[in-house]
Amino acid sequence: MEKDQHVIIIGAGAFGLGTALRLKEEGYKSVTILDRSVPPVPDGSSNDISRVIRFDYGDPIYAEIAKEAFDLWKTPDYKEAFHQTPCLWVCQDGTPEQPVQSRAQEYSRKTKRVLTEMGQEWVPVGSVEEAKQHFPKLTGRLATPGFDGFYNTSAGWADAGLACARLMSRCASSGVNFITGPNGQVEEFEKNPDGTIKSVRTKNGRVEGDHFIVATGAWTSSLVPAWNSMLAAGQVVGYLRLTPEEVAELRDLPIYFNFSTGFFAFPPHEPTGYLKVACHGFGYTRSEPSVVSAPPSVAVASRANYIPADGLKRLTAGLMDLFPQLAPRGFEKVGICWYNDTPTGDFIFDYHPEHKNLFIATGGSGHAFKFLPVIGKYIVGSWQRKLSDKLLEKWKFPTQFRERFQGEVFTGDGSRGGPERRELTAQELDMFDTALKASGSRQSKI
Ligand SMILES: Cc1cc2nc3c(=O)[nH]c(=O)nc-3n(C[C@H](O)[C@H](O)[C@H](O)COP(=O)(O)OP(=O)(O)OC[C@H]3O[C@@H](n4cnc5c(N)ncnc54)[C@H](O)[C@@H]3O)c2cc1C
Ligand SMILES: *[C@@H]1O[C@H](CO)[C@@H](O)[C@H](O)[C@H]1NC(C)=O
Ligand SMILES: *[C@@H]1O[C@H](CO)[C@@H](O)[C@H](O)[C@H]1NC(C)=O
Repeated sequence: MEKDQHVIIIGAGAFGLGTALRLKEEGYKSVTILDRSVPPVPDGSSNDISRVIRFDYGDPIYAEIAKEAFDLWKTPDYKEAFHQTPCLWVCQDGTPEQPVQSRAQEYSRKTKRVLTEMGQEWVPVGSVEEAKQHFPKLTGRLATPGFDGFYNTSAGWADAGLACARLMSRCASSGVNFITGPNGQVEEFEKNPDGTIKSVRTKNGRVEGDHFIVATGAWTSSLVPAWNSMLAAGQVVGYLRLTPEEVAELRDLPIYFNFSTGFFAFPPHEPTGYLKVACHGFGYTRSEPSVVSAPPSVAVASRANYIPADGLKRLTAGLMDLFPQLAPRGFEKVGICWYNDTPTGDFIFDYHPEHKNLFIATGGSGHAFKFLPVIGKYIVGSWQRKLSDKLLEKWKFPTQFRERFQGEVFTGDGSRGGPERRELTAQELDMFDTALKASGSRQSKI
């Protein structure tokens, strides 16, 4: 790779920004990021008040890289957005009546084994009573028979919007060019006769380059032929308003993650006074004529305040387990945030099989934010083909599903809980659209 060639990155989420900064650090002279909005992008998955940072993984490669990232979250460039907090993982163990191991239990076992093999300690939490001894602020019933959990204090959460804003500033200071809004919203790739990409056409213009890196998250399969290797899955999030007294009272909460249902909750976010809960599940799809699932493409000023009724029920049930006294208050705000899932939950950092200067950096699969401090290194390393064969192989573009979409292969890494994935109904789509309009378009904000 010549350092004076023009590198165009599409998408200014954690992946795109991380890549841009790394390229600048390596001396690339011309790096341009395009996005439909200004980062932190309101409806991008890298933007929210919190994201879990952990290195508890059932997969040793992610566990190692996550530990590398975790150590960086505590350094000056990242620590402003990082809050160290224990993360308590729970699931239901087999009971005499139900001895069969569940998927959640299997993932929990695998994770503990990987941690042990890495030489990382974890604290077993064998019962609800024990959980309450460690974390007295958890006042609910937590769980019914067979409570099985563990935690480690080496975890925490990041204010994702703040972390992205800071990363964007670092990119801008190091000379990355930004083109945002309609000028940055890519609609099409223009190709040379040999199939290489010459330029991108945006809503209001075109941008030429020598290399193109697509980091468009859940929007990727609507922009490039994705060969059925990724799927946008909408996940539910809810924000409950706390009083300043409650914020102070609940400050020392752990992150609570229920493997059996995918429900998880964060400690209060002091700047907004929100208690945030979400579900790490199989999600909802939103089909479009040519793609199996895609988030709305219109740029918005904020995420639409809408989730389907069954999603709301799951969030409320989870909250009831933890804080029955708060649950009846209801959520002040809800939203759908989009995972870009791959069949195995592995990222895709590889050249597109049909275009040799088009590189794909996506497939966050609901777990990539924590890697923000190191993701650029791994994306650029894959782009330069400098990583180990093992990593290049892990993150290669899956080509085996090209002929047919196979929904059943999208099972993730085994960490999801809750009901099967399903398509949003016509009525839900209507309500989502209405909420989207109410949230204000980019144009109306300017
Ligand atoms: C509800 C939820 C909870 C999560 N929780 C966690 C967690 O606890 N811990 C964790 O580590 N990870 C978590 N994740 C996953 C993590 O947030 C994502 O994996 C990560 O942020 C993905 O980053 P990205 O850069 O690939 O995508 P994004 O941040 O979505 O960036 C893609 C960008 O591409 C832009 N774009 C799209 N189309 C175009 C176009 N045509 N032209 C120009 N620009 C375009 C978009 O505007 C967007 O800014 C969660 C995700 C969600 C949705
Ligand atoms: C968590 O893991 C760290 C890193 O391995 C270890 O030093 C620490 O003792 C563990 N703490 C707890 C409470 O398990
Ligand atoms: C997980 O959540 C479900 C639904 O709220 C609940 O029934 C179960 O007891 C919870 N398990 C744990 C261990 O929290």
